[in-house]
Amino acid sequence: MGIDVWLPRASMPVDEPLLIETVSDSFKSETDTNTSVAKDNWFDLQTEINHCTKCSLCSTRKQTVFGSGNKQADWMFVGESPGQHEEDQGLPFVGNAGLLFTEMIRAIGLTRDEIFITNVIKCRSPNNREPHTDEIKNCKDYLIRQQQLIKPKIIVALGHIAAQTLLKTDKPLAELRGKTGDFNNTPVVVIYHPAYLLRFLPEKHKAWLDLTYALQTFKNNEG
Ligand code: URA
Repeated sequence: MGIDVWLPRASMPVDEPLLIETVSDSFKSETDTNTSVAKDNWFDLQTEINHCTKCSLCSTRKQTVFGSGNKQADWMFVGESPGQHEEDQGLPFVGNAGLLFTEMIRAIGLTRDEIFITNVIKCRSPNNREPHTDEIKNCKDYLIRQQQLIKPKIIVALGHIAAQTLLKTDKPLAELRGKTGDFNNTPVVVIYHPAYLLRFLPEKHKAWLDLTYALQTFKNNEG
């Protein structure tokens, strides 16, 4: 399956220099506003998401997938959209990609209980197709509200859909990794999606570099 144990490595054979840049102006996105933030709370947000009918995915979903983990996490991870296992269990990243994700964060000393993980889209799409632009737009407010309630110190975007949504860009993932962007004043780092890594195992060394970069960014921003 390709899910082996990722161990933290003191020294990593770096066969490719990781381009480290500070916040690039091109990724400094405008602040999204959520006018209801002052009185927002987890119960209202979860109830709204559970009953959401903003797009047609509500007619095909079995249940919504809100997100899971620590609601006061320093680290917030954002994936694309729930797959079948996630929809069945109502939890994000519980299938094969989720197993690899758990190993990936363990390699930088994190557990699922310490982080919060969610998706750009809270409903499964038919046949797991990529979310449509209007679906992303309709769901984005929920992501903003989750970020505003959690107040993470760093957001890690898993894959191009999360990266492009958070950074408001259509640049490919290869151009976004190794740089620190911004989502409503929270630093954003981009890494390969674990589902992609399961398909393209040779890319795993890049994912390790990206995780190392994320950890470095987190430490630099810890105040
Ligand atoms: N892929 C995602 O992007 N999210 C999940 O929750 C599972 C797989």
